[in-house]
Amino acid sequence: MPLTQPLRVHELSSEEAALYRTLDPTRIPEHVAIIMDGNGRWAGKRAMKRFRGHQQGAESVHFVVETASRINLPYLTLYAFSLENNLRRPKSEVSFLMKLLRSYLVGNVKRMQDNNVRMAYIGRIHELPEEVQETMQWAEAETAKNTGTTLTLALNYGSRCEIVDAARLTMQNTLAEAKRRGISVEDLLAVDEHAGITEDSLSAAMYTHALPDPDLLIRTSGEMRISNFLLWQIAYAELHVTDLLWPDFRGLHLLESIAEFQRRDRRYGGIGQVETDEELPDPAPVLHG
Ligand code: FPP
Repeated sequence: MPLTQPLRVHELSSEEAALYRTLDPTRIPEHVAIIMDGNGRWAGKRAMKRFRGHQQGAESVHFVVETASRINLPYLTLYAFSLENNLRRPKSEVSFLMKLLRSYLVGNVKRMQDNNVRMAYIGRIHELPEEVQETMQWAEAETAKNTGTTLTLALNYGSRCEIVDAARLTMQNTLAEAKRRGISVEDLLAVDEHAGITEDSLSAAMYTHALPDPDLLIRTSGEMRISNFLLWQIAYAELHVTDLLWPDFRGLHLLESIAEFQRRDRRYGGIGQVETDEELPDPAPVLHG
């Protein structure tokens, strides 16, 4: 659903506004997800410590969120911290990222209010340090009534883990429903197959249940990987990989990705054109050798 807020395109930079004018405003994606990558390399290129790259990466988050809100992008989801980051990075770097997240939230809630941005999170949030969770809950509550862009941060997030959690929850729901009706699971599924595991029941049990699937997935730093991000949800997303490192990514680059998205022909497995369903000949034999 497109947002109905007044567009704040007049707040875009002149370069952004020029690019925005080339876009079809009726085909702005509903949900853009971004794998923010390359902070470490950005710092390494400048002979700086990795944490400086993360610090600069937080600035990019601020700029990109602001542009997203100015063009009324309904949903923006950022991969800020994966389960693997949590397990495999030095403790000092993880601790810096946690402090940076808190500082970003504390320092940006006022701007989020000004930009009508609502905060949300996905991931194994309950495993994050207590004080980080408290700041997250505070930012979410402060921005809960905002009706513009929903900014979702994926934190301590892993997609396979999300799918496993969703499957477990669906199974528990099925067992509970069978118990409520006083019948066995087999009998329940015989009368109502939707009470079991279906695409809809799994989607409804994902951390992302309140979000539409992403239309566009952007990855920075040129890596051609999905890195365990929203595997279920990106089934039909358009992928856009840019060589830019995340700390160099700005709102203008978000608009460039949307322009590229609008040049794509999305067919969702169909053929994208109306063709009569005429009788076709049998396939010719497929010969070997
Ligand atoms: C990937 O770069 C980035 C991360 C693991 C963390 C993302 C964090 C931020 C953008 C900053 C803080 C975010 C918020 C929401 C305040 P990398 O370290 O893997 O880079 P490399 O591949 O070049 O080493």
